Amino acid sequence: MLEDRTEQPHIVTCTAPVNIAVIKYWGKRNEDLILPINSSLSVTLHQDQLKTTTTVATSRSFQEDRIWLNGKEEDITHPRLQSCLREIRRLARKRRNDGDSGVDSASLSHKVHICSVNNFPTAAGLASSAAGFACLVYSLARVFGVEGELSGIARQGSGSACRSMYGGFVQWIMGNKEDGKDSLAQQVEPETHWPELRILVLVASTERKPVGSTSGMQTSVKTSCLLKHRAESVVPGRMVEMTEAIRKKDFTAFAELTMKDSNQFHATCLDTYPPIFYLNHVSQQIISLVHRYNKHCGETRVAYTFDAGPNAVIFTSQQHVPEFVHVVQHFFPPETNGADFIKGLPVNCASLSEELKQGIGLEPMPKGINYIISTKAGPGPHVVEDPTQHLLSSDGFPK
Ligand code: DP6
Repeated sequence: MLEDRTEQPHIVTCTAPVNIAVIKYWGKRNEDLILPINSSLSVTLHQDQLKTTTTVATSRSFQEDRIWLNGKEEDITHPRLQSCLREIRRLARKRRNDGDSGVDSASLSHKVHICSVNNFPTAAGLASSAAGFACLVYSLARVFGVEGELSGIARQGSGSACRSMYGGFVQWIMGNKEDGKDSLAQQVEPETHWPELRILVLVASTERKPVGSTSGMQTSVKTSCLLKHRAESVVPGRMVEMTEAIRKKDFTAFAELTMKDSNQFHATCLDTYPPIFYLNHVSQQIISLVHRYNKHCGETRVAYTFDAGPNAVIFTSQQHVPEFVHVVQHFFPPETNGADFIKGLPVNCASLSEELKQGIGLEPMPKGINYIISTKAGPGPHVVEDPTQHLLSSDGFPK
């Protein structure tokens, strides 16, 4: 006798990456559709080090849509989750009505169970909403059998999530339509384009949770005239320059523009009223360290960028990683001097000359940095084929 497969949930698991903006998104012109006041550009980080994994299951037997995040059931009625679910189902219905045979018609009326985890600690303060919403949208699309442009849906989960739908170097074109149909992400160059480029995430020790991006940027849009000037008169030119620097693999141009744009973003936070401070004394020390190191080397070897929190993301070239990591370790002596300080891609040993230490001339700040994640640019979301990796068991509940 054939088993009744209609009762078996249809299960799909996918992973999606984190991205770090080098031209920052800050400010919306439409809060519901999440439409930005300027375009932005980011580098997708490699999923071997930082990723979200999401399993989505659909079944006729499910009573309601449900979601579990990092082991805890969360409220599925959250408006941004609802936007993503609604838009994917709408797209699936439209495709089916247009005669697309790939769309799973049966599951269209079914409820979904969603389970999602990060491979990095939430406590590290790394933005996980971009990878989270990108993974949710990508997995939902797969379970319903829809393909094609999905960044416009991921955008409605979290603005920066649209850029996590692609690997490598990605721009989010702001668009100008009222309905947001032209506000989409697009790959500028693939992850294989610049193999020597390395990325170090310096996880700063911090006590308090900073103001969230959503509310922070709302206040900035209302009160900062510097933000208005930045969006209208600075970012358009920088998008062109940044794309060009990446295309030519011009590290100096890429690095300087990355640092300037991070600084301008934090300047708009200070220009917000009341002001928002995302950088702390550790972040400021990292900024000084990078500038002093570059000056000592007589060239721009390292760049920093900071999002809405004190962690630094460092860009450098593969050949300079060992020395710079040791510089960081010297000026931020960690609690444990062992291998635990560096996670991710292996870093070779290097010795520091007295001349370099003296040349930088900063007072060491013990325990300012908890650890470093060493990574590089990586690919966009993908399907996990191995069914043992599903986060939901065959009954559709978390394992
Ligand atoms: C500083 O995408 O988290 O990281 O759209 O409200 O969800 P919402 O905000 P979010 O903002 C990210 C801001 C940023 C800069 C960037 O990633 O471009």
